[in-house]
Amino acid sequence: MSERSSGLASGRVERLLAQLTPQEKLGQLTQYFFFGRAVVDDTDPEQAQWVDAALSRGEVGSLLFLRTADETNRMQRLAIEGNRLGIPVLFGFDVIHGLRTVFPVPIALAASWDSVLIERVQGVAAREARAVGIHWSFAPMVDIARDPRWGRMVEGAGEDPLLASVVAAAQVRGLQGGKTVTDGHVLAGPKHFAGYGAALGGRDYDESDISDQQLWNVYLPPFQAAIEAGAGSIMSAYMDLNGVPATGNAWLLIDVLRKTLGFTGFVVSDADAVRDLTTHHFVASLSDAGVVALNAGLDMEMAKVDAAMGHITPADVDIERLDESVRRILEVKEALGLFDRPFVDEDAAALILADPTHRDLARQAAESTAVLLRNKGVLPLRECDVKRLAVIGPMADSRRDTLGPWVFAYDIDETVTILAGLRARLDGHAEVAFAPGVGFDERTYPSFFADHGPSTPDGFDSEVESARAVDIAQAADVAVVVLGERQDMVGEYASRSSIELPGNQLCLLQAVVATGTPTVLVLLNGRPLDLRWADRNVSAILEAWYPGTRGGEAIANLLFGDASPAGKLPFTWPRTVGQVPLHYAATRGHDPNRQDTRYWDETSTPLYCFGHGLSYTRFEYSDLVVETPEVQRDGKAVVSVDVTNVSERAGVEVVQLYLHQRYGTSSRPLRELKAFERVELSAGQTKQVHLEIGPEGRRYWSAATRDWVLDSTRFDVWVGTDSQATLHAEFTVL
Ligand code: NOJ
Repeated sequence: MSERSSGLASGRVERLLAQLTPQEKLGQLTQYFFFGRAVVDDTDPEQAQWVDAALSRGEVGSLLFLRTADETNRMQRLAIEGNRLGIPVLFGFDVIHGLRTVFPVPIALAASWDSVLIERVQGVAAREARAVGIHWSFAPMVDIARDPRWGRMVEGAGEDPLLASVVAAAQVRGLQGGKTVTDGHVLAGPKHFAGYGAALGGRDYDESDISDQQLWNVYLPPFQAAIEAGAGSIMSAYMDLNGVPATGNAWLLIDVLRKTLGFTGFVVSDADAVRDLTTHHFVASLSDAGVVALNAGLDMEMAKVDAAMGHITPADVDIERLDESVRRILEVKEALGLFDRPFVDEDAAALILADPTHRDLARQAAESTAVLLRNKGVLPLRECDVKRLAVIGPMADSRRDTLGPWVFAYDIDETVTILAGLRARLDGHAEVAFAPGVGFDERTYPSFFADHGPSTPDGFDSEVESARAVDIAQAADVAVVVLGERQDMVGEYASRSSIELPGNQLCLLQAVVATGTPTVLVLLNGRPLDLRWADRNVSAILEAWYPGTRGGEAIANLLFGDASPAGKLPFTWPRTVGQVPLHYAATRGHDPNRQDTRYWDETSTPLYCFGHGLSYTRFEYSDLVVETPEVQRDGKAVVSVDVTNVSERAGVEVVQLYLHQRYGTSSRPLRELKAFERVELSAGQTKQVHLEIGPEGRRYWSAATRDWVLDSTRFDVWVGTDSQATLHAEFTVL
């Protein structure tokens, strides 16, 4: 058991606790934003002075947003010299998909279904972060998202509790290097506890109203997995959960998180979420907000300025409760070695940030996360057939959009766009012409941050530009059209009421396709989009997400077949926003034979199902055998299946197993993912894959008994390439 979770506080921690005044203790429970002086555009001198002063009064336990080694060293010195007990500060940061090296966005990582890759990616992110003095990442975001209008879907692992749990655990292992934080790693901070992804209407920060069965069966499992992987902190969410703000919700933070899920680390609030208890009209004053949050089980307040903790009158808090939180924070500082090694080596940090193996992993990750949604024989492109390539689209040469949201310390100059990747790939073999075609209308889609997104250049004439795009398409052997959402159209505070391609992109695509030139659509986006027209009319569609620092190179490799797509969708892809929310694990209802025609104006099936993803290789499934036709209630069902690569090139397949319970205490979903395995198969090779479903995979929380149940009943199993797999078998649980 780790020192952090042992409950046996060290001598140093107890000595400090005995010396700290109540005010200093509340300071330890405060984390402030610090945009710092290195961040020229964001510098807020008043706030910086304010933080400096609070630091030297010993009233800051942690800071967020510092991202360079010289700055963390400078602020650490100020903290240690400033406070009379020399307690170091903990530096937190949103290291979501990389620091200097930017990896594909989290939803893309989930699409790899590859926990080994995800762990390696977050291991590199942690290495870079720790090198510059960051101790703690506010990642992974493990919120289940079933409504693509919600912009933060891009930060999570999609709709499915099992896939999201596997991805959550892999991210925690990668960030921390183990159940406790090991050298060169950082503390993980799964967020946002709990139910933030269920915001009504997909509107960010709006309330979540989640039934108990959804909470236990769908929203909490990824947190449970992250906790079991050893996550050292958890972030409480902004919104009201069933009418009580998550950050002031004792049932959620104590009964569920600590007593039921067994969490032993510390809980930080989302930014200003303690102050928000007044905004929610839940408490009367800022000082009450602090007291209520503490009593609800919060350990640290994240605040922009003027934290609620600073307004608390020590007499209003129970000293034992206060000490419990302070002890948790000091123990983390000790476990991370901050008392003995508070500073970082700035030269070593520079070398780590420049490590070329990190960039190689970024390329490999981008290759493994892309999802081939459709391919009517165009892909892979053959160099000998492509003498003139047209690259079209407003983001095809946008470095910032290649990286995606939630990145701050990237090197824009080394970012490879799709245009740059294709030019490098075809250098000396083919002519590559480029036209953006359309821009983003700033009035309809204003940039959230000044440096985000390609602004449509002054004097950009849409008619001229789209005509030029059509001309180059006409003259080309193949057109690659890069469309989607500018990177600031996804992420926090980036919900959309429509999932159509923004602006005039669809018209541009239609005009390019009308030339008759074979067209490949490459998507940069973080949520499903309305692709009904494209799916009927475009030869191939590759979902590239926001692929990161080496994204362009990876996409070129995929398009030309140097790498083969193997990603699978981590969510159900609706046809239109009118179907939302649409997820595959729905229950069976009246007139099930017409479950696909529930609307009169559109089919109720998805455009692409959960788990869908094509490859350049063809796989065949056969001989599905249930090795255990009868299983004891606490026993495991074991299933085997043969998977054959019937193509002439090697490839990777994600073998997926879906389960359905025929009858029992509750009606259960039509299908639920219960096991999966990534297999690599050379040309012609067959592998037998064994998959297991233990009692934990059949157990569920039922509203009928208001408790967990494990039914003795009959089960259907399907195994195959996606959630519409047809190979079927059955077993009975006695
Ligand atoms: C608010 C976001 O909701 C959270 O995810 C993030 O970690 C904090 N801001 C700090 O940036």
